[in-house]
Amino acid sequence: MDIQHISVIGAGTMGNGIAHVFAQNGYTVSLVDVTEAALQKGMETIRQNLGRQVKKGAFSESDAEATLGRIVPTTVFVQGVESADLIVEAVAEREDIKAHVYQSLAEATKPEAILASNTSSISITWLGAQSKRADKVIGMHFFNPVPVMKLVEIVRGYQTSDETYQTVFALSDKIGKTPVTVQDYPGFVSNRILMPMINEAIYCVMEGVATPQDIDTVMKLGMAHPMGPLALADFIGLDVCLSIMEVLHNGIGDDKYRACPLLRNMVTAGLLGKKSGKGFYAY
Ligand code: 3HC
Repeated sequence: MDIQHISVIGAGTMGNGIAHVFAQNGYTVSLVDVTEAALQKGMETIRQNLGRQVKKGAFSESDAEATLGRIVPTTVFVQGVESADLIVEAVAEREDIKAHVYQSLAEATKPEAILASNTSSISITWLGAQSKRADKVIGMHFFNPVPVMKLVEIVRGYQTSDETYQTVFALSDKIGKTPVTVQDYPGFVSNRILMPMINEAIYCVMEGVATPQDIDTVMKLGMAHPMGPLALADFIGLDVCLSIMEVLHNGIGDDKYRACPLLRNMVTAGLLGKKSGKGFYAY
């Protein structure tokens, strides 16, 4: 299937990064969010990130302007969606919100349109069931910051068709990313491996094994990770980390995936990391 017009639902951290990358690669993108404020914040982030690329000479001013010009922000949910060949959903990681979005998309989009989710842990097979066109539903899991990280985890749901998979795989390649195919099991590959590592680092803090700074230094200097696991947890959001641990624990049923009680306490106390101004570090 030839993808021409793309809609991205959700202008948050991931959604605006995804719209940025598609527009930078020449695609027209409608960027949809529920409030004007959320959209403006998303567009401002794209402007700033394009500015970084211009500053380091990767991009000309006119390329950046043209990229912005290809993104059409809208608060009208179905606007732009009816003509889209591909809809990338990047709304909040809540099943009730996602269920509503997939039911609405199934009615508002062309029957042949592909619905791709950027979910970090919700089952693609379950999203397919909500849409009632499971063969057209697939995971397209990007990584933060989206303009920088090369990976796209392509998640095949139980009923995702070969055609949907091949189209999304080829598109990911076309926009300069490296697609990797995974099957639909809890946490896919990325978060099944990443989150237990982060969770274990939080156990080390809770047990007083070392300070957050020293734990991060061990992983940065000893294992060449670009960020330590606790800085990364703050960057991802501690609420997101907790919810992914719960998906792993519930979905696989093994207690090795139980969330660290310190992680639970911090989330309950409103310490969510960078976005709330405080997590393992202050921002
Ligand atoms: N948009 C565009 N460019 C950006 C950017 C953004 N949002 N953020 C950083 N950059 C660019 C910078 O311009 C710079 O480019 P250059 O090297 O060509 O000059 C480069 O990225 C590095 O940025 P900085 O110099 O500002 O900072 P660092 O060198 O410290 O790198 C980082 C920042 C890229 C975030 C790096 O620390 C890193 O790779 N961290 C790990 C990130 C990671 O693991 N992400 C995955 C999170 S998990 C996830 O998303 C999945 C979910 O399901 C949980």
